[in-house]
Amino acid sequence: MKDKKVFVAGHKGLAGSAIIRELNRKGYAGIVVRDRKALDLAKQDAVFDFIESERPEWVFLAAAKVGGIYANNTYPVEFLLENLKIQNNVIEAAYRFGVEKLLFLGSSCIYPKLAPQPMKEEYLLTGELESTNESYAIAKIAGIKLCFAMHRQYGKEFLSVMPTNLFGVNDNYHPENAHALPMLLRRFHETKMRGNKEVVVWGTGAPKREFMLSDDLAAACVFIMENYKVADIGEFVNIGTGKEISIIELAELIKDVVGFEGNIVLDKSKPDGMPRKLLDVSRINRLGWKASYSLKEGLRIAYDDFLKSQAV
Ligand SMILES: NC(=O)c1ccc[n+]([C@@H]2O[C@H](COP(=O)([O-])OP(=O)(O)OC[C@H]3O[C@@H](n4cnc5c(N)ncnc54)[C@H](OP(=O)(O)O)[C@@H]3O)[C@@H](O)[C@H]2O)c1
Repeated sequence: MKDKKVFVAGHKGLAGSAIIRELNRKGYAGIVVRDRKALDLAKQDAVFDFIESERPEWVFLAAAKVGGIYANNTYPVEFLLENLKIQNNVIEAAYRFGVEKLLFLGSSCIYPKLAPQPMKEEYLLTGELESTNESYAIAKIAGIKLCFAMHRQYGKEFLSVMPTNLFGVNDNYHPENAHALPMLLRRFHETKMRGNKEVVVWGTGAPKREFMLSDDLAAACVFIMENYKVADIGEFVNIGTGKEISIIELAELIKDVVGFEGNIVLDKSKPDGMPRKLLDVSRINRLGWKASYSLKEGLRIAYDDFLKSQAV
């Protein structure tokens, strides 16, 4: 198995780079990567030529246009178009050129806005999506459905996973595009460096969310590729820690990891969003996998990496 030729699409990103680390750790020697300059995955001809000539046996599809609420809400056209192009190109090329197994990375935003908590795999398409990231979610749902259709119609082993909110090494800390956790981490760090005494956190601090270190996601992805087929996992499987934390508790943890000594101020005039968002992870747990990093361990790893990126 370790001699498989493996293509990781999106290898410089948060999830893709963690998958590369996990494959290296486990001794996979035939890893193939291309950065965006060498291969724009939104270009069909280029993707077909690449897969035809390289003939990978496994593909991890961790390339996507990804962003936080602001970016998703402001650029719905790009989020829909680019993600559909990337995933359609890679999945179709994998089908045409004999890829044995493919793993498509979706996202927990595919679930209906008002889905019961924790969210089980069978809640997909049972209600309306959250409007701010609808384009992204629709692209991801199309990816899951395409992989499953490839299995149903052509017997392909194209699997899908739905990770919870991720953070970790190589995260995006961009002020407009970042997700909530890296944005908070950056804000605590910058406030500390400026010698200011207050970090403002939006909302009441009461909503609960789930966060997972990208290394845990990568371990789950490789575990699934090594051990399971579509018949075992179904259309897709959730990947998360199964643990939730309130935003104020998260802010306190980040404050501690960053070493910020000022105060956290809640701006209760700002909206809270959904009270809870937690994946039901009993299916992946039954398959024999559990997340292993605590949130605090993960935050330390992420903050060290953030500091290194600032030093460059
Ligand atoms: N981050 C999360 O919290 C989270 C949670 C659940 C699921 N996921 C899923 O995990 C996957 C990866 O997310 P991520 O957080 O790792 O995102 P990321 O850090 O932004 O990485 C995405 C990667 O895709 C590459 N890419 C994008 N468009 C490309 C194109 N046209 N051609 C070639 N490469 C392209 C990017 O290349 P550049 O470096 O050149 O931009 C980047 O390396 C996504 O499917 C996402 O839905 C993420």
